[in-house]
Amino acid sequence: MSEHQHQSPQGFETIAIHAGQEADPRTGAVVPPIYQVSTYKQDGVGGLRDGYEYSRSANPTRSALEECLAALEGGRRGLAFASGLAAEDTLLRTVLQPGDHIVIPNDAYGGTFRLFAKVLTRWGVEFSVADTQHPAKVREALRPNTKAVWVETPSNPLLGITDIAAVAQVAHDANALLVVDNTFASPYLQQPLALGADVVVHSTTKYMGGHSDVVGGALVAADAGLGEELAYHQNAMGAVSGPFDAWLVLRGIKTLGVRMDRHTSNAEEIVALLTRHPKVTQVFYPGLAEHPNHEIAAKQMKAFGGMVSFRVAGGEAAAVEVCNRAKLFTLGESLGGVESLIEHPGRMTHASAAGSPLEVPADLVRISVGIESAADLVADLAQALD
Ligand SMILES: Cc1ncc(COP(=O)(O)O)c(C=O)c1O
Repeated sequence: MSEHQHQSPQGFETIAIHAGQEADPRTGAVVPPIYQVSTYKQDGVGGLRDGYEYSRSANPTRSALEECLAALEGGRRGLAFASGLAAEDTLLRTVLQPGDHIVIPNDAYGGTFRLFAKVLTRWGVEFSVADTQHPAKVREALRPNTKAVWVETPSNPLLGITDIAAVAQVAHDANALLVVDNTFASPYLQQPLALGADVVVHSTTKYMGGHSDVVGGALVAADAGLGEELAYHQNAMGAVSGPFDAWLVLRGIKTLGVRMDRHTSNAEEIVALLTRHPKVTQVFYPGLAEHPNHEIAAKQMKAFGGMVSFRVAGGEAAAVEVCNRAKLFTLGESLGGVESLIEHPGRMTHASAAGSPLEVPADLVRISVGIESAADLVADLAQALD
């Protein structure tokens, strides 16, 4: 743990259920109420009750979630946003200025790439793409004006693994920040700040919310000063999580640990099917011994999670056919919910990366393994492939 982080004596599940969530002082309600309110009565001009003034600046339901997020990631400040991309945009326009440079990974969520390529470049930010699975390649991509290195691990959709501690060293040697998108792992499986990252990003839409019923994002900063700057920009830019959305994410977080255990054990059974299936030419899963960075995943993750990708013999048409034939696996974008999802990244989640260094193989299928009965999931995928 870095000197910036809280040392908590409590276990992860205890923090998930209790951090920021004391019983409501007025009524004793055991979960934080949804404060569906925009403004707060002042006791005389400037006489704020508990600091609440206007819900873009702060809202008690959002504050509960933000405190919980910070505790789960072992950071000094957590902030909740309207979406993962809203969190990313706020972070990037806080730590970067026109003329700055950022190193981004060659495998990442397509929307993250689009934000860099189509939005931030118009704003004068330069980026270079590097294979962050090799820290030496990150070092080669650095420039004198590099202010940040962005890493997604495991990455979307190829499940690449980046050595967070090694890349933190590379970034810090260049006085750059390391940002880790921890969406695929969740803080239950991986805690990037403890490994040297400066900021963690989440699409809380995914495992944190966990029920495919909310869109949200989060930032957690290791350092209180950076946390303060991000909070300033959260208010100044305004892409905050609404109270009901914050409440849904907070409720999802309470079961994160048990869900991640089941996502992982179900994924392992699916991987066992895929690795022996004659129509599957390659399986991407960090738990496989043949994954190029399996050892690093085993070192920095508690378990390997519920995301799996695979390539299908017969090219794009065959991959699309598998997606269309699945029944229990719902064909849809997103991931991390209790229900299993299947998708074709090339035509769906990563269509915006077509023609770029982040373009994904056309024969790729990505699955988000849910927490249904494992045998039913295995049977469904088997019939979709046969
Ligand atoms: C790894 C990752 N990061 C960020 C995002 C963006 O989050 P959101 O869709 O909540 O804006 C996604 C969305 O799919 C994602 O998969």
